[in-house]
Amino acid sequence: MDLPKEVRYRPYADWSDTEIETIQENVAKSPWHATYHIEPKTGLLNDPNGFSYFNGKFQLFYQNWPFGAAHGLKQWVHTESTDLVHFSETGITLEPDNANDSHGAYSGSAYQIGDKLFLFYTGNVRDENWVRNPLQIGAWMDKNGHIEKFKEVLIQQPQDVTEHFRDPQIFEYQNDFYAIVGAQNHEKQGFIKLYKAVDRDVYHWKFVGDLEFGGTGSEYMIECPNLVFVDGKPVLLYSPQGLDKVELSYDNIYPNTYKIYQSFDAEKPALLDGSPIFNLDYGFEAYATQGFNTPDGRALIVSWIGLPDVDYPTDKYDYQGAMSLVKELTLKNGKLYQYPVEAITSLRASEEIFVPKATTNNSYELELAFESDTLTELVLFADSRGRGLKITVDTQTGKITLDRSAAGKQYALDFGTSRSCTIDTGEIVEASIFIDKSIFEIFINKGEKVFTGRVFPTEQQTGIQINSGNPKGYYYNLNY
Ligand code: FRU
Repeated sequence: MDLPKEVRYRPYADWSDTEIETIQENVAKSPWHATYHIEPKTGLLNDPNGFSYFNGKFQLFYQNWPFGAAHGLKQWVHTESTDLVHFSETGITLEPDNANDSHGAYSGSAYQIGDKLFLFYTGNVRDENWVRNPLQIGAWMDKNGHIEKFKEVLIQQPQDVTEHFRDPQIFEYQNDFYAIVGAQNHEKQGFIKLYKAVDRDVYHWKFVGDLEFGGTGSEYMIECPNLVFVDGKPVLLYSPQGLDKVELSYDNIYPNTYKIYQSFDAEKPALLDGSPIFNLDYGFEAYATQGFNTPDGRALIVSWIGLPDVDYPTDKYDYQGAMSLVKELTLKNGKLYQYPVEAITSLRASEEIFVPKATTNNSYELELAFESDTLTELVLFADSRGRGLKITVDTQTGKITLDRSAAGKQYALDFGTSRSCTIDTGEIVEASIFIDKSIFEIFINKGEKVFTGRVFPTEQQTGIQINSGNPKGYYYNLNY
């Protein structure tokens, strides 16, 4: 939603209780609230931040402007979870309240150091002429959730980057702390800078070099770079804005991509023997995905189900955006798989053999198997005329297509109403489908390919219809 700068950057303290109540009442009126996905209490949710493990719990923050569905003065909002499925908001926030983050506490990461959680983030600072000076800054969160910001700036804007320099991700590698930061050079190409904490001291970051990762510079900015290790192999997840479609075909305004490597040379610094670049998700919206390695070595990711510069049907209710399920990354035959964590099955409240249904509560999971050499057409969020989210699965060609053009309220039409992908294994065997009111997450072959996105159904769009084919499997009602 377009709101004047004065509104978007109005100090938090200036918003009256009455104004905030009006916003809350408006948010409550939406028919599209999710039941088991994280949504903002009010305003806009964007990137996942500070995804980590600390104090016996998983920590997950999100970027938020609390006063409406627009990108304004951003804060971090804290949630925590013990099972990676049930997350609760704690009321803790990292607010933009000092000179180093005056125009927003932008995205970043977190890592337990000693008995505290270190938050590493970008302070978005602008001067009176609206010239931006991005600062990489830090804060400690203690076990009681008390946050104390560092006074000192940890990394200043280097000479060879423009104002686009942000989203530090801290990770530990061979007993040292490193951070990668997304950047744009003066030729308007995206790149990534690597820093190392001198003697593991997070107050002192030394520039190691520009990370060689096999990028071509066809993007104009790399947002939210994340390095995780999957079975010892480095995997770089990043959001290259403006990436040339000759390099990688994608339909969304900005892609979220990844590359798999054989090794990481922290001194050169380089990611070596990289795969081609791939789309992380084939749906309508998944962006700024953040990952981390858990203390027990798993690689977990979570994505923003939303995109920058896109208006959503919920905007008129003063909120926008949701967080994806937590997905675990694995490698099978050198290929990256993403699949919800095991504990997701704890949401299953009832199990039924899958059959078409005239009505559901649009909060369910499907586990479906498809016959070979068959064209299946399935409509979710279907009304009595069969209008809804159409999923076509062709097991002869290995092609899967989603069409949301008849699924309720339309938006982002400039970017088309269908998405598709082809399965590399040649065989589409099964799909796990998670539906949550206005959110879908579809995992093909246990996460070989993923479609994430939104639809905003009418009140009548609650059914499941089969137009052709005979998929077999289970339907589960989900309860949070
Ligand atoms: C990505 C992003 C980040 C930035 C944040 C601001 O969506 O633009 O690069 O830190 O959002 O909210």
